Amino acid sequence: MNNIKLVVAKDYNDMSEKAAKIIFDHVKNKADSVLGLATGSTPVGMYRNLIEMHTNSKLDFSGVTTFNLDEYYPISRTNDQSYYYFMQENLFKHVNINPHNIYIPHGEASDIETECANYEKQIDKAGGIDLQVLGIGLNGHIGFNEPGTPFHSLTHAIELHESTIHSNARFFESKADVPKRAITMGIKTVMLSRTILLLASGEKKADILFRTLFGEITTDVPSSVLQLHNSVFVIVDREAAKRL
Ligand code: GLP
Repeated sequence: MNNIKLVVAKDYNDMSEKAAKIIFDHVKNKADSVLGLATGSTPVGMYRNLIEMHTNSKLDFSGVTTFNLDEYYPISRTNDQSYYYFMQENLFKHVNINPHNIYIPHGEASDIETECANYEKQIDKAGGIDLQVLGIGLNGHIGFNEPGTPFHSLTHAIELHESTIHSNARFFESKADVPKRAITMGIKTVMLSRTILLLASGEKKADILFRTLFGEITTDVPSSVLQLHNSVFVIVDREAAKRL
């Protein structure tokens, strides 16, 4: 596991601070870093720390470009459950990032295939992703790459699995309001990032984390592909590390 640096933080706040510090160091070293960003509840604390670092330690986002992993489809950017909205609220509106350097798949694109192909081109044009932040779904999904997604996949449209709709329904008024599709970077898109930062918090992630890091490398557990990457930071809290 030389390629994977595992850090067990004492709790969610500690995990969030440590993760933010990695991003801080990256951006200090390379002011024009290209960051891959994730949504979900896990990285919220990390974003809070980044905002504080921007305010107190002059962390400068003016040269940074960001690509988000995924977005529901169809969904409007003004919907408070869109990942676009999430990113504005949790990070972008609080820091000095140039709005032209923010990329999130368009949840209202009229031609979904063209949108996916363009997203890949935009990542290439930016020089590829330096540091990709990942959360993890209970079934090992990364971004919205559900079990069965081929490892060679690029940005593509997917049908959400029933279990994902169920677990994300808590954020919507009702389960019926959860969009049935999404656009996500593919597994290959994620694997092409130069460094990956995987975060997990809470006991409910303990089992999938174990399978991710020590289980068979299989498309049944999309996150297990990370064992094949040569530079991964895994920052988890004690609860999530229970089975490691
Ligand atoms: C969603 C997102 C993923 C995220 C996952 C886990 O389905 N598409 O990017 O990693 O949920 O979410 P949470 O961090 O809330 O557990």
